Amino acid sequence: MAIDPIRHETFPVEALRAEFPALQNAQSTVFFDNAAGAQVPGRVLDAVNRHLLEHNVQRGGRYPQSLAVDATITRARAHVAAFLNARRPEEVAFGMNATSFIRTVSLAIGQMLGKRDEIIVTDLDHEANVATWLALQGMGARIRWWRMREDGRLHPDDLRPLLGARTRLVACTLASNALGSVVEVRTVAELAHAAGAELFVDAVHYGPHGPIDVQALGCDYLVCSGYKIFAPHMGFLWGRYAALAALPTFREDFIPDEPPGKIEAGTFIYENVAGMTAAVDYLGALGRRLAGRSCDPEPDGLQKDCHIAMQGIQAYERTLSSALLDMLHARGAVIYGSADASRVNERVPTVCFNLPGRSPAEVVTAAADAGIGIRDGHMYAPRLMQRLGLALETGAVRVSLSHYNTLEEIDRLDAVLERLTAG
Ligand SMILES: Cc1ncc(COP(=O)(O)O)c(C=O)c1O
Repeated sequence: MAIDPIRHETFPVEALRAEFPALQNAQSTVFFDNAAGAQVPGRVLDAVNRHLLEHNVQRGGRYPQSLAVDATITRARAHVAAFLNARRPEEVAFGMNATSFIRTVSLAIGQMLGKRDEIIVTDLDHEANVATWLALQGMGARIRWWRMREDGRLHPDDLRPLLGARTRLVACTLASNALGSVVEVRTVAELAHAAGAELFVDAVHYGPHGPIDVQALGCDYLVCSGYKIFAPHMGFLWGRYAALAALPTFREDFIPDEPPGKIEAGTFIYENVAGMTAAVDYLGALGRRLAGRSCDPEPDGLQKDCHIAMQGIQAYERTLSSALLDMLHARGAVIYGSADASRVNERVPTVCFNLPGRSPAEVVTAAADAGIGIRDGHMYAPRLMQRLGLALETGAVRVSLSHYNTLEEIDRLDAVLERLTAG
């Protein structure tokens, strides 16, 4: 597909790169392993530092520093609620990472099974959103598999016959962290709800690539990792208030049985939560920039600004996906999942491939020698690798781009692949 010149050229990628100290410090390094964690803007570093310098204490006290921690958490909840278009900040819970939230919710669901004892999982998902649900078999759950088709996509039509009066929950990803394919979650939510079931969405991989609007998606739970969306290591869970309120979660008796506290076992990392606020502010500022506004957001403007930012990121990244796929085709790579450069609107810029005659490790090592960080292996999606006929020990090569990557960086990877395919 031809690159849309207006979108590509008007995206302020160089100005944005200048906001990421790691990109400036490691000028010659190409960060193409963003699915494993993204770089952070300077304002995120500042927020983390400021927190540790000025109020590194426990929340819930009466002295100023402790009150400041309470305010930091309240602010972060409101920011993440805006990022997701949540109905209320109490629907957002903070914690260590996405996996531990999937575990928390699944253990609670496991205690509520009754006649609705079926959980639907997929073979496209990251193992964190599969094994966690499979573990409920020990609590009486029956597992049904929504299988990916040969095109590397989950088709809602294949979900329909799996749903019924026994379905308790569908657990699926918003985008594959290996193939990059996006799932039509809105349709999945409609189908699940029509059957009286709930929908748990893993938005970890999709998070940095496009707008998330939990109200428009219509899901019941959604999990994300801060470190994939330009914040430090932390995770958050969003849930429909009534759904969260109904979950039997573990909590000490003195913690009220209401969201979000009932989902947040123990102390989480406050400095990283402060960084999460700054990451959302970075996106808000990008949205205003793309919309041609420079002023501070109106009180309810942050949600709109984040949405514009993520739409801009999505449009720019589609040009990167298209260029990456064209380059891989030209080098004779075997691309897994959708390899069609004219259908980049159905994917995020994450591509798994292999080069005939070269092991994934060889390709990744050659890239590393040229200062390019990419990854080989099973991408924590072992069932998917099996579906693709790939050995778990070797798997595939994954290139995962972010909005701060450029066409020139894709050219640098091309030069590595050219050498490997020529020799
Ligand atoms: C799609 C997907 N789901 C879940 C996870 C696990 O996230 P976390 O490291 O926050 O537990 C990852 C991590 O890479 C992921 O890509």
